[in-house]
Amino acid sequence: MKRQIVLATRNRGKIRELQALMKDFGIEVVSVADIKGAPEVEEDADTFIGNSLKKAREIASATGFMALADDSGLVVDALDGAPGVYSARYAGDNATDEENYLKLLEEMRDIPDEKRTARFKCVMVLFHPSGQWISAEGSCEGVIAREPAGSEGFGYDPVFFVPELNRCMAQISPDEKNAISHRGNALKKLREMLPEFLEKTRGKDNP
Ligand code: IMP
Repeated sequence: MKRQIVLATRNRGKIRELQALMKDFGIEVVSVADIKGAPEVEEDADTFIGNSLKKAREIASATGFMALADDSGLVVDALDGAPGVYSARYAGDNATDEENYLKLLEEMRDIPDEKRTARFKCVMVLFHPSGQWISAEGSCEGVIAREPAGSEGFGYDPVFFVPELNRCMAQISPDEKNAISHRGNALKKLREMLPEFLEKTRGKDNP
């Protein structure tokens, strides 16, 4: 039987990216959004690892399948690391992506070019219902732009300028983004650990 990994996210942008990144692994990847009765996990930890471990653990124990969770966000140097773990709700609890990045541009209005450095960070956890888990961290360096550009991606992509590509993250294709993104980098590391983890947990699915 094909083994299954449940993605502990309802964010369609992330689901698309993670499915693309896992497609050659011979594992069925489904989203928690497609599983009836799966719990809504509150992200109330104040670190990326705290949130991703909590999400992966709760979804694995509720569904009986391996769960892959990530917690990610934008870390801006001039704002002492904000919005960080609060990236999704920077402009308020139900803020849209646009409201969040417009607030960021406003906060950064008087910050000179050389101090606009930032990075996306991502911590990923793969949790097996038996209690075993692995984690990996990835990041992607950039600069906060002066105005939004592009319509690809999601979140802060339109205002995250990537110097090595000379474009904003929302101006590059999904494949180009996966090759350099924080999520892509974290998953690359996790994938290196995956064969051993799958072997160790073989036969222990669906306890
Ligand atoms: P999470 O769902 O708690 O990991 O929150 C992630 C939030 O960080 C998203 O809602 C976005 O605001 C931001 N974020 C994370 N990854 C990306 C990305 O790849 N592009 C743009 N924004 C991102």
